[in-house]
Amino acid sequence: MGLKDGFSRIIDYMRVSVTDRCNLRCVYCMPDKGVPAVTHDDILRYEEITRIISVAAELGVRKIRITGGEPLFRRNVQSLIRDLKRLNAIDDLSLTTNGMLLERYAEELKDAGLNRVNVSLDSLRPERYREITCGGDLDTVMKGIEKALNIGLDPVKINMVPIRGMNDDEIEEFGRLTINTPYHVRFIEFMPVGNGSFYDENKRITTDEIKERIGVLGALEPVRVRKNGPAKYYMLPAAQGVIGFISGMTHHFCRDCSRLRLTADGKLRPCLFSETEIDLRSALRRGATDEELKRLLKLAVEVKPEGHYILEKEEGGRPMSRIGG
Ligand code: 5AD
Ligand code: SF4
Repeated sequence: MGLKDGFSRIIDYMRVSVTDRCNLRCVYCMPDKGVPAVTHDDILRYEEITRIISVAAELGVRKIRITGGEPLFRRNVQSLIRDLKRLNAIDDLSLTTNGMLLERYAEELKDAGLNRVNVSLDSLRPERYREITCGGDLDTVMKGIEKALNIGLDPVKINMVPIRGMNDDEIEEFGRLTINTPYHVRFIEFMPVGNGSFYDENKRITTDEIKERIGVLGALEPVRVRKNGPAKYYMLPAAQGVIGFISGMTHHFCRDCSRLRLTADGKLRPCLFSETEIDLRSALRRGATDEELKRLLKLAVEVKPEGHYILEKEEGGRPMSRIGG
């Protein structure tokens, strides 16, 4: 069994935002005026999230990624992870974090059943990191990354968004990280979501250009990585880690999309960029049966668009912190 959309894509992956709050304020993510406050009651309780995922699992969802905002900024995420693990239906349980609280929680997360983490990291220079994130501490994040690796949250993926004039002079350094450590360093094309007043076409760096710049480190050999999703992976000669490219803007990234998103306030989004939202929270709180929830999940899959039209839009709608990466 499994969910198949109108374009023959198998939908087995759900990204679940547990909060739209964040302990950082990355320049490209958070709108200048901040995000509208969402009250405690608006946010799904962990039991509600677990219920939705158990129903989704019955329909064939096998992979869950916990995101935010910053998921570790919500209290006791490890209890949610533990409950999801207990469903005995999820093969791949991962979490996206900015890493500020990772060192503190890595062990508890691993014990609860988390398989792996993705850490967003846009600079390896302490001063610059602080500036980009408005107050983040690079040393704290690096300790979290090392801890995650050491306790076997495997693989540790590092996501970097190269932005011209901001951090693009570090592309090589990030690439070099993969030579002596088994990290998966992934370059994500800058997209017009998040802080609309920061986005500028000229700041975007295409995957082709990033690859060209990495080229000075050696020839990139394509490699197959299990469950690679929309990223394409390569390796530098004799490297321990791999380098991935996520080309949301320029390559056909939507063709391999297998995901649905659940926002922190309980809306199901068929696509990161679509404005369509299915309100699972209201359904849940009205006392919907599992069958009704299944119908809504299937509906989201049915209306999943073939691709996004983001270049045709002026602004990105919800900021990334409110969609959940
Ligand atoms: N373009 C590309 N990636 C973005 N992210 C947030 N905003 C953008 C954007 N405008 C990334 C973060 C993090 C992930 C959750 O999404 O850097 O790695
Ligand atoms: Fe927080 Fe991630 Fe947005 Fe930075 S990019 S402000 S870490 S949600």
